[in-house]
Amino acid sequence: MTRSRNDFRLTMFIGAFVLTLFFSYAQGIPDFSGLPPGPYCGAQYPALRCCDGRRDVCSAPIVGTLCYCDDFCDRNQTADCCPDYWSHCKGKPVDVGPPQLIQVGCLFEGKFYAHGQSIKQNCNKCKCSTLEKKAEMLCETNPCLVEPDIIDTVNFENDRLGWRAENHSEFWGRTLADGMQLRLGTKNPSQYVTKMIPVRTVYDPTKLPKSFDSAEEWKGKIAGVRDQGWCGASWALSTVDVASDRYGIISKGREVVELSAQHLLSCNDRGQQGCSGGYLDKAWLFVRKFGLVDEDCYPWTGAKEQCRFPKRITFDQTRCRRPAGSTRKELYKVTPSYRLGNETDIMHEIRMSGPVQATIKVYPDLFVYKSGIYRHSPRVESSRTGYHSVRIVGWGEEILSYGPPVKYWVVANSWGKDWGENGFFRILRGSNECEIETFVLAVWPKAITY
Ligand SMILES: *[C@@H]1O[C@H](CO)[C@@H](O)[C@H](O)[C@H]1NC(C)=O
Ligand SMILES: *[C@@H]1O[C@H](CO)[C@@H](O)[C@H](O)[C@H]1NC(C)=O
Ligand SMILES: *[C@@H]1O[C@H](CO)[C@@H](O)[C@H](O)[C@H]1NC(C)=O
Repeated sequence: MTRSRNDFRLTMFIGAFVLTLFFSYAQGIPDFSGLPPGPYCGAQYPALRCCDGRRDVCSAPIVGTLCYCDDFCDRNQTADCCPDYWSHCKGKPVDVGPPQLIQVGCLFEGKFYAHGQSIKQNCNKCKCSTLEKKAEMLCETNPCLVEPDIIDTVNFENDRLGWRAENHSEFWGRTLADGMQLRLGTKNPSQYVTKMIPVRTVYDPTKLPKSFDSAEEWKGKIAGVRDQGWCGASWALSTVDVASDRYGIISKGREVVELSAQHLLSCNDRGQQGCSGGYLDKAWLFVRKFGLVDEDCYPWTGAKEQCRFPKRITFDQTRCRRPAGSTRKELYKVTPSYRLGNETDIMHEIRMSGPVQATIKVYPDLFVYKSGIYRHSPRVESSRTGYHSVRIVGWGEEILSYGPPVKYWVVANSWGKDWGENGFFRILRGSNECEIETFVLAVWPKAITY
């Protein structure tokens, strides 16, 4: 009983103290006059133990500032920033002289932050620290996914480079490490793709058109642009989209399907790492052996989950809907994937059978691509890179007022429609920019025959 009454009185007292301080802050000086000595600071430390210089472990927060139970506050023997200083350390009553305000906080970019307060600067956390005798903002130093410096560098040399950069707002505030891990997601292809022998086809390279667009050629049969979210599964999305495109094309529109990337992400778990990346050869092998259902039946959630189906299942058992008129008995499967060897082979393949899957080496500047014909800027530091798989849907040439035309690929990315040129990017063609022509794969779908 007695105890709780005391607590109540203490609360009332602190309330009064807060008011007094606010009043005097408004005039620029904290006014401790009239405050009885209290155990504000001393209560937290052994009574009568006093430290000599400023010691932050020997302080206690009081109303937005810090109260020191040491000689630090005692600038000239008259002023004391903490009302309990004398009673606990020097054994004398508080001598109220002209008070002083002690700045215990950080001034950072024109704003004041109290000790311990933190803010976010792009992808890094900054915290005000007053521990080392001086107050300073300590910031993490992670490279960020959107670095204003990179944007400036690219836009400055835009004429020579051929593309422009922007702050993609979805990427702002994330680390480059996050981007490389969660916005890409294809395991180093040189470990498996290079073992595949490129197919040889017979065609006349001089008869290939100067530009080509799958979406124009096969209207309504080509997949759009997806957003993989913060899930490193480009291995699954690019595989599924290339397979879907080819179903629409080869079935001549009878089986226009959007296949389920979630099915592949969740169920192709052997040797794959879900949202932490996967191998394209294993992905294609899964589609070849077990097949996939369509997007409506197994929608994208952007996270690896428990697989919903047993591996071997018939179309009827899945209870998925068939396109009108379809007599499909098994899931949507493909024949073995094959590799395309060079620029014109890739063009011929796209022209004849549809979009192909390519794996590119991603440098930090790709994340801020806005428009134009991408090539990695040699001025952008590139100690960190990753592999990403995408879908090449066409090509073209840009005529310049001087010099030869600039040849490019048109590529569908999986970072949403707000990124780049409506979700697509153009990249230099014919010079293996970012290794884009090294690891190019395609398949034939097992469309049903009518
Ligand atoms: C003590 O501090 C007050 C307040 O800042 C100042 O006006 C005064 O001159 C100081 N006295 C000495 C002896 O330094
Ligand atoms: C980038 O975009 C984000 C989100 O729109 C914004 O908060 C940030 O201030 C922008 N950064 C720069 C440097 O423009
Ligand atoms: C690519 O290889 C084929 C033979 O497979 C050849 O006819 C063609 O000229 C090559 N294209 C380029 C750009 O080297």
